Amino acid sequence: MPTGEQSRRSLAVAIDGPAGAGKSTVAREVAAALGYAYIDTGAMYRAVAYRALREGLQVGQDDQAIADLARRMRFEFRQTGEGQHLFLDGEDVEAAIRTPEVGNLSSPVSALPQVRERLVAAQRELAGSGGVVMEGRDIGTVVLPHAEVKIFLTASEEERARRRQGQLRDQGLERSLEQILAEQRERDARDSSRAVAPLRPAQDAFVLVSDGLLREQVVAEIVARVRAAEEGACQ
Ligand code: DC
Repeated sequence: MPTGEQSRRSLAVAIDGPAGAGKSTVAREVAAALGYAYIDTGAMYRAVAYRALREGLQVGQDDQAIADLARRMRFEFRQTGEGQHLFLDGEDVEAAIRTPEVGNLSSPVSALPQVRERLVAAQRELAGSGGVVMEGRDIGTVVLPHAEVKIFLTASEEERARRRQGQLRDQGLERSLEQILAEQRERDARDSSRAVAPLRPAQDAFVLVSDGLLREQVVAEIVARVRAAEEGACQ
């Protein structure tokens, strides 16, 4: 049986979980440690919301137009001097999609079935044949149901809100913990109760609760699971 670097197969790794569980940082670091590509699917929903906002389209009124918009959009993740950015039809939209306004709108936008249909297809295309860490809400359940490693990364509500507050502060935005908790609850409830692809762990996902764990510990745990699966896939 061959072992070692040469014989390792590149796998698909799905990392799902609610907002503020630290998914993005963890997924990015896991991908870097493995030498895999990293795909942030939330960024794609945010990009649709950003474009809808810019064109004055409203969820509930202009759903067809938003779906058409999503269908025409071309997504590309490119390395820049400041890390990986999402380019939309050639435009770097990384900063524009990270505002709280776009974040809030991305939740109702992501509940539109036609938008999901289009983005799931684009995500499967981006995933290619493996060697990818894909992060989102429905990766293990819908987008890549055959992913060899599935992680559902979560944390307590308070822990998630505190992390979110820190992230926003880094962007120069001050928000009270109460306000963040209220927005987070609303988003969680909408993401978990929507008819299409609700947020839930896949049956074969490993549920990882990150309260009290250092980021490095979470990354190491996931990398170890992928390494074990890589070895297993070669046997
Ligand atoms: O992870 P995020 O905050 O960037 O995601 C933005 C929104 O998109 C959030 O409301 C959840 C939604 N989303 C989704 O429905 N499915 C995904 N695979 C990724 C994100």
